Amino acid sequence: MSVTPLRPAAASAPPRRITSDTLLQKKLAHRPISAITAYDYPIARLVDEAGIDLVLVGDSLGMVVLGYENTLPVTLEEMLHHTNAVARALRRAFLVADMPYGSYQASLRDAVRNGLRLIKEAGAQAVKIEGGSARAKLVRRLTEAEVPVVGHIGLTPQSVHSMGGYRVQGKSLEAFERLSADAHALEDAGAIAIVLEGIPRELAATITSHCSIPTIGIGAGPECDGQILVFHDLFNLSFSPSAKFSRQYADGAAFFTSALTRYRDDVTAHRFPSDAESYHLPREVQAALEAAHPRARKA
Ligand code: KIV
Repeated sequence: MSVTPLRPAAASAPPRRITSDTLLQKKLAHRPISAITAYDYPIARLVDEAGIDLVLVGDSLGMVVLGYENTLPVTLEEMLHHTNAVARALRRAFLVADMPYGSYQASLRDAVRNGLRLIKEAGAQAVKIEGGSARAKLVRRLTEAEVPVVGHIGLTPQSVHSMGGYRVQGKSLEAFERLSADAHALEDAGAIAIVLEGIPRELAATITSHCSIPTIGIGAGPECDGQILVFHDLFNLSFSPSAKFSRQYADGAAFFTSALTRYRDDVTAHRFPSDAESYHLPREVQAALEAAHPRARKA
């Protein structure tokens, strides 16, 4: 297999790495934070070179890359493996890794140990955990252990069974107030940012204006400090109907399918590989071969 660098190494100075402080400064300056998920080296490189601010190795990995039905089976080892690949690709973007289901719910001690592994072994700059006030103590413990935390409230996919499916959250007055309180609890506990997923625009706008840390929305309207989407949804690669909040920017499925069928047709019709795509013996070896074996003519 030939391994060609995606781009020749840039001669210029490396771009300045985005930090949690950069994200905060963007909020304060009302400059939107762009964020997207990535799970492997080539896509992470493209995302980084496109100037996206934040890359999340989301546990959506389980559904869009590993083919699981939901995010619950994703393991810490899988998150470490994919985060490592993404970390090797990033030069500028801020890298957040999801803590998968089961890696932080059982005990504070295990949660801190697992969070530390994502930073130390996989190269994440922060971890993301789902849940509000109930996670405040854990957010504080992780923060004290130098593990920066991004919170995640609203539609939290790891709670699919307790939510009774993937439903927009925060639509009643009580739920509105509960989620606002959750955001403040995470902020007070030391979270560096909060993902707001699947909540009414009005609620996201209220949380965004009342919280001092950046909010990053997905299905939470335009007033959030930043927006995040799942990479595969942008490119029609998730094999599921797109959600109301998602926007498809290109048809990756059609692009890949067209290339793959042309490749298949070329192989089937003996059009691939051509002579120009083949290696040849040096001329003198070919001549010697033909002298020794007259039937070994060059094709
Ligand atoms: O796992 C994920 O991709 C996420 C985003 C949807 C925010 O949590």
